[in-house]
Amino acid sequence: MTTPSDTSPNNKGQSLWGGRFSDKPAALMQAINVSIGVDKKLASQDLAGSRAHARMLIDKGVIGAEDGAAILKGLDTIEAEMLAGTFPFRDEFEDIHMNIEARLSELIGPASGRLHTARSRNDQVAVDFRLWVRDACDHAHAQLRALQKALLAKAEDEADTLMPGFTHLQPAQPVTFGHHLMAYVEMFGRDATRFSDARGRMNESPLGAAALAGSPFPIDRHATAAALGFERPTGNSLDSVSDRDFALEALSAASICALHLSRMAEEIVIWSTPQFGFIRLSDAFTTGSSIMPQKRNPDAAELVRAKTGRIFGALTSLTLVMKGLPLAYSKDMQEDKPPVFDAFEALNLALSAMTGMVADLTPNRERMAAAAGAGFSTATDLADWLVRTLNLPFRQAHHITGAAVKRAEVLGVDLPGLPLIELQAIEPGITDAVFSVLTPSASAASRSSYGGTAPDQVRGQIKRWKDLLS
Ligand code: ARG
Repeated sequence: MTTPSDTSPNNKGQSLWGGRFSDKPAALMQAINVSIGVDKKLASQDLAGSRAHARMLIDKGVIGAEDGAAILKGLDTIEAEMLAGTFPFRDEFEDIHMNIEARLSELIGPASGRLHTARSRNDQVAVDFRLWVRDACDHAHAQLRALQKALLAKAEDEADTLMPGFTHLQPAQPVTFGHHLMAYVEMFGRDATRFSDARGRMNESPLGAAALAGSPFPIDRHATAAALGFERPTGNSLDSVSDRDFALEALSAASICALHLSRMAEEIVIWSTPQFGFIRLSDAFTTGSSIMPQKRNPDAAELVRAKTGRIFGALTSLTLVMKGLPLAYSKDMQEDKPPVFDAFEALNLALSAMTGMVADLTPNRERMAAAAGAGFSTATDLADWLVRTLNLPFRQAHHITGAAVKRAEVLGVDLPGLPLIELQAIEPGITDAVFSVLTPSASAASRSSYGGTAPDQVRGQIKRWKDLLS
């Protein structure tokens, strides 16, 4: 195989841009500059961009048919090498763009040098990275839909399962487990549309912006945009090579999604403690302890919770890389990729692990139902009954109910266990009809307002989502 210096266009032992230089870069320059270890991930995007660009240049007569055919064939060979794992990724060629160009030069000779006509690495990296982020958004969207489907299936099974609803993590009012799971279906539904909205905005092609000012060649930016699945070319060449909003927006969507995942992960951690005992995680998503034989640790949930830190870190990192950069391209922007790659890898894992945990978890219905009635959780139902039946102002009903809870606490009973005579001592108008509203199941069934916890409402929402997702 020929050495890099033999194949570089200037043959002086320098890089592809070495014409203006007499000396090689310092080793330290190469060390800080090199990005191939990271941006090799953009190989297939770079090939797609190069093919679209080459075909357009051939169509416009900027590259002759013979050279054009050689370039396209060379790109095919490079793709085959990449698939076979034999492509030589080399640090001395700095990044993915120059690695591919250098290899093309080795494969087809001087004709390779025509591919970079009317193009710069600035628009090249912008198009590659957009294509990668667009795919990442599509993948996250699909994963969110899968997670929603797992939640819907569980919610359907648990539409009647009572559990305590909390505020301040204190028992508030009974809800159903299905209703609780459906809250996450809503959250992940918004997350999915954040990714699709971001996709819509990013779907413009920067290819042809060249270095920053556009190109004097008769290029067809609409053709390359269409070939790469973009809606249209970007409208301003300076913006095209300096914008990384698309990545920031994807990271924002990823961050909010990770935040939602962390809330659900936290609930799974709490629910699976022996103290709560609301759910049992499957063995597949639990780990043991090397010292304490009784342990079943919810490591997957904890790691999903922790991935949020990495993902928000990535958003902060790229935001600070971009802050204050003058137009157009600056090399700072090469630091855009590591946080994005890392964040989406973390998000993929978190979404898959959460989907697996949800599909596999087993609720302890008896335990949840027992907890649903604890903590005087139907006190609001008593107050509402006083308003409806005795026509009392809610504030007065609230006060009477507070007194009833106080009395029940003294007697060591729950609200349905408080003797009628005790209730009548507080409010003489109370009759034994009140007991029909004091059970957790009556409480949940009564909350049948749109979006409420009543099992029929929950089933209605499950159906609505199933239709939406089918
Ligand atoms: N590796 C570079 C990056 O990721 C590609 C663009 C380089 N452009 C330049 N003018 N040096 O940003």
